[in-house]
Amino acid sequence: MTIKTSIQNLRQWLDSQIVGQPHLIDRLLIALIADGHLLVEGAPGLAKTKAIKTLADGIEGDFHRVQFTPDLLPSDVTGTDIYRPESGTFEFQSGPIFHNLVLADEINRAPAKVQSALLEAMAERQISVGRSTYKLPELFLVMATQNPIEQEGTYPLPEAQLDRFLMHVKVDFPNAEAEREILRLSRAESRHTEVAKLEHRVLQSELFSARAEALDIHMADAVEEYIVQLTQATRQPEVYSADLRRWLEFGVSPRATISLDRCSRAHAWMKGNDYVSPDDVRAVVHDVFRHRLILTFEAEAQGQTADKIIDEILNCVPIA
Ligand SMILES: Nc1ncnc2c1ncn2[C@@H]1O[C@H](COP(=O)(O)OP(=O)(O)OP(=O)(O)O)[C@@H](O)[C@H]1O
Ligand SMILES: [Mg+2]
Repeated sequence: MTIKTSIQNLRQWLDSQIVGQPHLIDRLLIALIADGHLLVEGAPGLAKTKAIKTLADGIEGDFHRVQFTPDLLPSDVTGTDIYRPESGTFEFQSGPIFHNLVLADEINRAPAKVQSALLEAMAERQISVGRSTYKLPELFLVMATQNPIEQEGTYPLPEAQLDRFLMHVKVDFPNAEAEREILRLSRAESRHTEVAKLEHRVLQSELFSARAEALDIHMADAVEEYIVQLTQATRQPEVYSADLRRWLEFGVSPRATISLDRCSRAHAWMKGNDYVSPDDVRAVVHDVFRHRLILTFEAEAQGQTADKIIDEILNCVPIA
C-alpha cells in the first residue's frame, strides 16, 4: 500500500466516524502533513475532541488532552524539575505537552503566561527548564480549541501568538442529514456494534515520508508568485483596492507566507497531484490568513470579517 492510499483510507475512516465535518478532517490531515498546529473554533459538542482522539487512534502516536483553566500554571503544561530526596537531585518530570497529539482545550481560559508557555513550545519544539532543554517528539501536533460564544472570564490570545498556528479552522453545525447519521453512529457505539475499524494504523515513518513528498511537489514560478502577491496584498492593500485599504490595519507575517506554501503543498499532495495549482492555494488561504489579519476599527464597525476581506484579496490579486 502506498503512503497516499494509507492516508486516503485514514481520511475515509475519519469521515465515517466524524460525520459531516469533512473540512475539519481535511485540515487535521493538512496540519499533520504540513507539520503545523491548529486553532479550532466552534460551539460545544461539535466533535472537536472526538476528531483529534479518533485521529490519534488512526495513527501511530499517543494523545493527551489539557484543559485550560484560570488556575493552570506553565509547568502544568511543560513539566518541571522535581526534587528526588532518595538521590538528592532534581529530575525533570515531563508535562502533558510531551505527546504526539495534544488537545489544548479552551486555550483562552488560561492566563497569558500559560498560553505563552504552550505557544513557545509549539514554535520551538522544545522546552527549557533550568539549564536543560528537552526536545518534543518529532510528530507533534497541537489542536487548541476556542469557544466563540463565551467571552466572559476569558483571555483572548494576542495576535502575535495566533501567528504560531498554521491554520485557524471554524467548525459549524452539521446539517439535518448528518445529524441523523450522528444519531445512528452514537447508538451503534453505545451498543458496541457495527463500528467501522481501520485496517492499517498510519505509521509515523509514513507521515514523515508524506511530509517529504509534499515538500518536493513541483510548484510553478507563477504559483509561488501568487502566494507572495497574496501576502503583499495584505500589507499594501492600497495597491489593490480602496476597500482593502480602509479595512486592513496590519498585514500577515512571513510565517503566513510559509504556512500558505506548506498548506497548499499538503492540499495538492492529498489530492494525488504532483504539482501545486492556484486552486490549492485558494482552498487553504482563508484558514491560513484568518487569524493573522488585523482589521481597522472602521472594518469592525461595518461588520467586515477577515473572511470577507480574504475573499476581496482573492478577487483583486491576479494569477500571473
Ligand atoms: N459530526 C459528528 N460525528 C459523530 N459524532 C458526533 C459529531 N458531532 C458530535 N458528535 C458526538 O457528540 C458528542 C460530543 O462530541 P465532543 O465531545 O467531541 O464535542 P466537543 O466539540 O469536543 O465539545 P466541547 O466543546 O464541549 O468540548 C460526542 O459523543 C460525539 O460522539
Ligand atoms: Mg471537547
